[in-house]
Amino acid sequence: MRGDRKLITAVDESAARGGITLDPAQRLLLGRLADLGSNLDRRSLRSPASSLYVYGPSGRGRSWLADAIYAALPTTRKTRVHFHGFFDKLHRSIHDHRTERDAVERAIDDVTANSQLLFFDELHVHDSGDARLLTRLLDHVFRRDLTAGNGSSLPPQVASEMVSGHP
Ligand SMILES: Nc1ncnc2c1ncn2[C@@H]1O[C@H](COP(=O)(O)OP(=O)(O)OP(=O)(O)O)[C@@H](O)[C@H]1O
Ligand SMILES: [Mg+2]
Repeated sequence: MRGDRKLITAVDESAARGGITLDPAQRLLLGRLADLGSNLDRRSLRSPASSLYVYGPSGRGRSWLADAIYAALPTTRKTRVHFHGFFDKLHRSIHDHRTERDAVERAIDDVTANSQLLFFDELHVHDSGDARLLTRLLDHVFRRDLTAGNGSSLPPQVASEMVSGHP
């Protein structure tokens, strides 16, 4: 069975166990996530980073779907974080590396560990310091060819305004 098919089947089984029937939008998204997931091992260091920004109204079933597919991904090189926890961890790690040359880069290395896939749940940037960190993180994601996913209730335009600090 192809990798994406295996992932879709695993999520369908998880839905059946939970008494959930995926709606059409979730099914469409599942196809995109399964494509990303099944390509993880095939991507070369020179291929462009793949990422997916998912948004929609609250309670739409994004986190459930992300959890289900994340659990089904046959790799340990994956990181799933909630945004708030992620920034806390990043700040602590920057503090730990404060005497080193580029503490932010070292901290980003730490929190992304050896991952091929980085998945964020929610995106909220409350201050300019976090916005700068997020920009550094995204640079890192694209430079290191990580695959990234994000589930948010914010449209991409609003999220990018939060990061850049202005509309
Ligand atoms: N297709 C579905 N049918 C019925 N219930 C579902 C379905 N998909 C998810 N759920 C349930 O709906 C609830 C909300 O889902 P979830 O937390 O994934 O939404 P979300 O889009 O991440 O929302 P939030 O904005 O709160 O992050 C959860 O209890 C989840 O188990
Ligand atoms: Mg959610």
